[in-house]
Amino acid sequence: MADTTLMDKLVSLCKRRGFVFQSSEVYGGLGSVWDYGPLGVELKKNVKDRWWRAMVHERDDIEGLDAAILMHPKVWEASGHVAGFSDPLVDCKTCKARFRADKIQDAQCPQKPSKKPGEHTTCELTEPRMFNLMFKTFMGPVEEQAAVIYLRPETAQGIYVNYQNVLNSSRQKVPFGIAQIGKAFRNEITPGNFIFRTREFEQMEMQFFVKPGTDMEWFERWRAARMEWHHSIGLTKGKLRWHEHGPGELAHYARAAYDIEYQFPFGWNEIEGIHNRGDFDLGRHQEYSGKKLEYFDQAANERYLPFIVETSAGADRVTLTLLVDAYREEQVEGETRVVLGFHPAIAPIKAAVLPLVKKDGMPELADRIYHDMKRAFPTFYDDSGAIGRRYRRMDEAGTPWCCTVDGQTLQDGTVTIRERDTMTQVRVHQDQLVTWIRGRLS
Ligand code: GAP
Repeated sequence: MADTTLMDKLVSLCKRRGFVFQSSEVYGGLGSVWDYGPLGVELKKNVKDRWWRAMVHERDDIEGLDAAILMHPKVWEASGHVAGFSDPLVDCKTCKARFRADKIQDAQCPQKPSKKPGEHTTCELTEPRMFNLMFKTFMGPVEEQAAVIYLRPETAQGIYVNYQNVLNSSRQKVPFGIAQIGKAFRNEITPGNFIFRTREFEQMEMQFFVKPGTDMEWFERWRAARMEWHHSIGLTKGKLRWHEHGPGELAHYARAAYDIEYQFPFGWNEIEGIHNRGDFDLGRHQEYSGKKLEYFDQAANERYLPFIVETSAGADRVTLTLLVDAYREEQVEGETRVVLGFHPAIAPIKAAVLPLVKKDGMPELADRIYHDMKRAFPTFYDDSGAIGRRYRRMDEAGTPWCCTVDGQTLQDGTVTIRERDTMTQVRVHQDQLVTWIRGRLS
């Protein structure tokens, strides 16, 4: 049974505290499209920065790329998306709702009382028909078939068609990888669960080009590295698991595939896929473009089409996972304390500066400390309300440390640092604050 209460509370907190808003809310919202508010944009940026650091900056064998969203329409013929990127769609002629035929057991008929589609006597479901998930638009001023192009449904294809450009301009040799973060669009039939499945989302994808025959070894290495990364951003290890794709589940391009799944309140679900794509992608682009995409291995004096091992994670999905994993409620002195217990490296705001009272020079000193800290990392200033209330507000935003300027600060320059998770306090000299916090951010 899905823990809808927790999701409801999280959605409400996200709106109230400025993590995530519904798109175009003043017009009643746009289905399954979301906007990130001031805290959400920082949180998601931290996810992407951590990924980029691990996948590009810390490695010698991976280059970065930022390919355009719009691509030549032939790309999507070669990739198999025009012919096969479809889900089976079922319409209800009575209530006009639409469902994915393969997920109908998890769907709900909009008629009351709540039942599964087809269970009301009035339900009239059509036979399933295939529905392509790519968004179409037109290039140029004429809306005709010849001008149709697509919003990319994955970032991967921008990497494949640039593989030789990167190879020729970067002095990399196989094995090497190309990493990219960017928007992708899918006209999902049944999006939902907040930012879990949306129609516009961001992917963090890396394609690793290897010599055929070494692909399974690299596949295993990348599986280990990617699980380790999810641990490193603070996700609870016991809530992560592997799901191996069986023969009936494998995508058309995949020789082997595993998903990293997280135990959400609505069940175990994929947050990242690791795929051995063989030579499917370069082979298809070679065939459809008529351009040779082989790699010449000078040392071995041989030519081959590299195999590809892909790691593909959703930035929005990882952000949701962090929010779900971090959310907790505790009883403290007869009150409920809501905490987002983010890993400090992921927390949108690293520290808050709070003058205990608005007099005796405390606000002026706190303001100076705040501006010093703000230059080093995202910091928040709050002087309104009782100190306990201000701590609670920061707990809810996931801020790891609150630095309180009090009477003693005026005497000896030390500040109280109150820790979010344990609520314990230590005193640190104001000159040491930035170093003290920085040392705890990785
Ligand atoms: N290039 C391979 C590929 O796109 P995928 O399993 O379809 O594989 C990879 O997608 C990841 O992208 C997923 O694990 C998920 O994190 C994210 N993703 C896919 N569809 C999504 C959607 N509709 N909303 C949010 N994230 C999505």
